[in-house]
Amino acid sequence: MAALPSSAAPCPPERRIMRSGSGSSPNCAPLKCNKRKVIRAMGGSVLVTGGAGYIGSHTVLALRHAGYSVVVIDDLSTGARDAVPDGVPFVEGCAGDGRLVAEILRRHRVGSVIHFAGSIVVPESVADPLKYYRNNTCVSRKLVEICVAEGISAFVFSSTAAIYGIPDQVPILESAETRPITPYGRSKLMTEWILRDTAAACEAFRYAALRYFNVAGADPQGRSGQRTARPTHLIEVACHAALGLRDGLDIFGEDYDTPDGTCIRDYIHVSDLAEAHVLALRDLNDGGTSAALNLGNQRGHSVREVVAAVGRISGRNFLVRVAPRRAGDPAELVADSTLARKRLDWQPARSDLDTLVADAWRWHSAHRP
Ligand code: UFG
Repeated sequence: MAALPSSAAPCPPERRIMRSGSGSSPNCAPLKCNKRKVIRAMGGSVLVTGGAGYIGSHTVLALRHAGYSVVVIDDLSTGARDAVPDGVPFVEGCAGDGRLVAEILRRHRVGSVIHFAGSIVVPESVADPLKYYRNNTCVSRKLVEICVAEGISAFVFSSTAAIYGIPDQVPILESAETRPITPYGRSKLMTEWILRDTAAACEAFRYAALRYFNVAGADPQGRSGQRTARPTHLIEVACHAALGLRDGLDIFGEDYDTPDGTCIRDYIHVSDLAEAHVLALRDLNDGGTSAALNLGNQRGHSVREVVAAVGRISGRNFLVRVAPRRAGDPAELVADSTLARKRLDWQPARSDLDTLVADAWRWHSAHRP
């Protein structure tokens, strides 16, 4: 039997909080919402887990721009300390470390949480599922438990289009069946279930599960961007190939049932996505009900189209090979994001393919690893 690859270092062992009156439920106690704390916490600062990562750091920029005070927790397993802007309090640690998170919530008078921390590489999740169930599902469960105990009333969760699996219909509506085909998608869907059931049991706790399609691009002012140690996402891989940092790019499968045979994805600019988080938080703080919302640009582009755009915008030639299909890739994923647009009054501004690739290219050419 093949051995599972070794995972990144696990979160520190959980230290159970048993302070009397803390509201943190020991194993068999019923869920207790701390309404007194909810009132105290409303209007407080925002805790961003994974705020040193790619999407997290862009959201921190957007939150600050909107006037929120922010505190970041990140274990720096993939994030970068210098992605967190100066002046934002930073704690190095795991979002599933209950005692640490409770301390942060109290010390910084946190009223809302945006939860990004987790693992995000679809093929890696197929090879190392337990890493995904630990980092995505178990950590989230613990975080939600502490948030309820500490009276957090608004929780925004970084979910994914991967929860839909192979959709019956494209564009995909939020009401589509969720049948994830990878451990990554399942680990995120389980967290959505945790949130749904928790909100049903605790009326003061409301959440928005934001289901991202393919996030790409970089901050137009060059303050943040993708900096993955071993890139796997298409646009980052293509930019690295154009820069000569790798010996070309493999297209994973050219025999899909799509016009040019390559997979179609809906690419959304990371700054547009960050803006949607601010709007979702505001909506919850204004009394909005819990919801799951698709965040996409509602336009599909094939792998070949994306590769051609990177070649055109960079002005560089690079080797493109056709390789076998990659495990866990649906042929086509395109969002219907009408609900998010209406409810949040959200309009993506930089998500047309050329603008998005140009921002990504500018970032990668200025930040060669
Ligand atoms: N691809 C290649 N060559 C590469 C890299 C990617 O051909 O070197 C292809 C993939 O096979 C896929 C497409 O490009 O068809 C996009 O792949 P990415 O790895 O960039 O992104 P994924 O579609 O696998 O996943 C992303 C997010 C998920 C999200 C999903 C939903 O990482 O969180 O989009 O659209 F769920």
